[in-house]
Amino acid sequence: MCGIVGYIGFREAYPILVKGLRRLEYRGYDSAGVALINHDNKLSVLKTKGRVQDLENYAKDKDTTGTIGIAHTRWATHGEPSNANAHPHYSQSENLALIHNGIIENYAVIKAELIDKGYTFHSSTDTEVLVQLIEYIKKINNCDLFTAVQLALNQVVGAYAIAIIEKGNPDNIIAARKSSPLIIGIGEGEYFLGSDASPIVEYTNKVIYLDDEEIAILSRNKDPKIVTISNIEKTPEIKELEMNLSQLERGGYPHFMLKEIFEQPETLRSCMSGRINVEGTNVTLSGIIDHKDKFINARRILIIACGTSWHAGLIGEYLFEEFCRIPVEVEYASEFRYRHPVIYSDDIVIAISQSGETADSLAAIELARKAGAFVYGVCNVVGSSIPRNTDSGSYTHCGHEIGVASTKAFTAQVTVLTMMALAIAKEKQTIEEAKYLEIIKELQHIPDKIQKILDLNDKIKELSLIFTYAQNFIYLGRGYNYPIALEGALKLKEISYIHAEGYPAAEMKHGPIALIDNEMPVVTIATHNTIYEKVVSNMKEIKARKGRIIAIITEGDETIKAFADHYIEIPSTVECLDPLLSSIPMQLLAYHIAVNKNRDVDMPRNLAKSVTVE
Ligand code: F6R
Repeated sequence: MCGIVGYIGFREAYPILVKGLRRLEYRGYDSAGVALINHDNKLSVLKTKGRVQDLENYAKDKDTTGTIGIAHTRWATHGEPSNANAHPHYSQSENLALIHNGIIENYAVIKAELIDKGYTFHSSTDTEVLVQLIEYIKKINNCDLFTAVQLALNQVVGAYAIAIIEKGNPDNIIAARKSSPLIIGIGEGEYFLGSDASPIVEYTNKVIYLDDEEIAILSRNKDPKIVTISNIEKTPEIKELEMNLSQLERGGYPHFMLKEIFEQPETLRSCMSGRINVEGTNVTLSGIIDHKDKFINARRILIIACGTSWHAGLIGEYLFEEFCRIPVEVEYASEFRYRHPVIYSDDIVIAISQSGETADSLAAIELARKAGAFVYGVCNVVGSSIPRNTDSGSYTHCGHEIGVASTKAFTAQVTVLTMMALAIAKEKQTIEEAKYLEIIKELQHIPDKIQKILDLNDKIKELSLIFTYAQNFIYLGRGYNYPIALEGALKLKEISYIHAEGYPAAEMKHGPIALIDNEMPVVTIATHNTIYEKVVSNMKEIKARKGRIIAIITEGDETIKAFADHYIEIPSTVECLDPLLSSIPMQLLAYHIAVNKNRDVDMPRNLAKSVTVE
């Protein structure tokens, strides 16, 4: 989703801003722009539809001098992708330039009022309305830029992360946030701004995470000042960034997605590190230990998430019900927040999110907290909004995920949920010691087993060629592998744009089996587990209708090999850990089909990495 970069200091701003925009490209966008106060004190805005490269081409013969500037990548919400709708937006007098992530919900009313007062608009965006409002307020109150921003933000309803600069005022950037992340990087005599840490990390590891309704005044050669929109001054809290630069580079892989798929043995080791003891006999999650009574006495677990994280949540449902004997409901955050859900004060709400910034998940958390439930976050991005708005939680520690299609974050989420289920079950004494030890032992073998599947990459690539031109795909699984069928279908559709559906295998005969003919590829996960025989029967039903079966099977399964059209063998494991292995061929298959189709794998069309609008 939209990205923000800002700089004020002693260096030329433009190269820093453009590099920052490139670092943010992974978030998904359709236009890009910069605003600079040039060396001759002019305020110039350069922007264009398209990629950062298009912006650079456009800016080649323009004045890009100046040591202060703001820059933006836009993911269209109000108004189509176009030059006019790209950010930054000028105010009427062209004295102010503003960039904005989020949505101003009451923009139409404010716009109508400003039109009545003689303001004209050049774009269809809510952002232009905000910059015009700031200018109007500044004019009628004859106040400084900070005061005008503060007064304006008291009038707007919605979500924002903004940065604004002013002609003739080369010493200040004003930035503010509400429900959309904004980070300030603190250098020596310079400040950086980013909607996430990626444009900042190569310059400094000291950051301030702005909180909701806070406005930052970044002035040349002065300490940063933070004041809320209700005019309360805050002491800036400087934190250390956990990200490093190598996480932002492809490291020899053609795409971030492939790099992230191959990183999984390492990311899962890092996810388990310090949580499973050296003897391999115990799982400790401090977030659970510190609140163990809450978990022991929980009436119910509600899991809220979106997309791939929601699929991880479905696996959590199987884990918590089987081992902890706590009833679980898994909800799409976007539905949960608007459907007047029943939430008890002795419910535990687990919010799962890679980015920690998903707007719907944040709203669902707010609802749960208001109802008095205990909220636990499972997030990847350290310091993001969800960990800061939950009672406790566990990080997934899988490093920065750049590919829009989530891979390593998903397996790390499932690993954390598994460890949570084990830790709670042990406290509740709902798991037998032998089972507990067996799962912990097997968890530690998972990274090596994933590596074995990654070694099949060439075979999966070859297989992908056969199916590149399929129009539709069906993915089937049961039990712990059912969410993986959904996830496999999602991976394929988001990066290859092929229509794909995931189903629990036994549901086929209740309708979807009508779709099966000799052109329909059916990816079926059929590993050796308690419902293996039933899945085999479901596969036979598909085969009888000439569907083309690609089976994900346990190594050495001669029964399925004998009738499947194609198969991928994966190592055996305990049933509850199956998803950590069966998800890997799904990721690789989707990846190679998308590459064969020449798709933009890391930045698929219409998608954003961090969905900060609802
Ligand atoms: C798909 C994908 C999305 C995200 C979803 C939630 O590959 O990445 O479906 O899972 O947008 O995002 P987070 O986990 O950041 O809350």
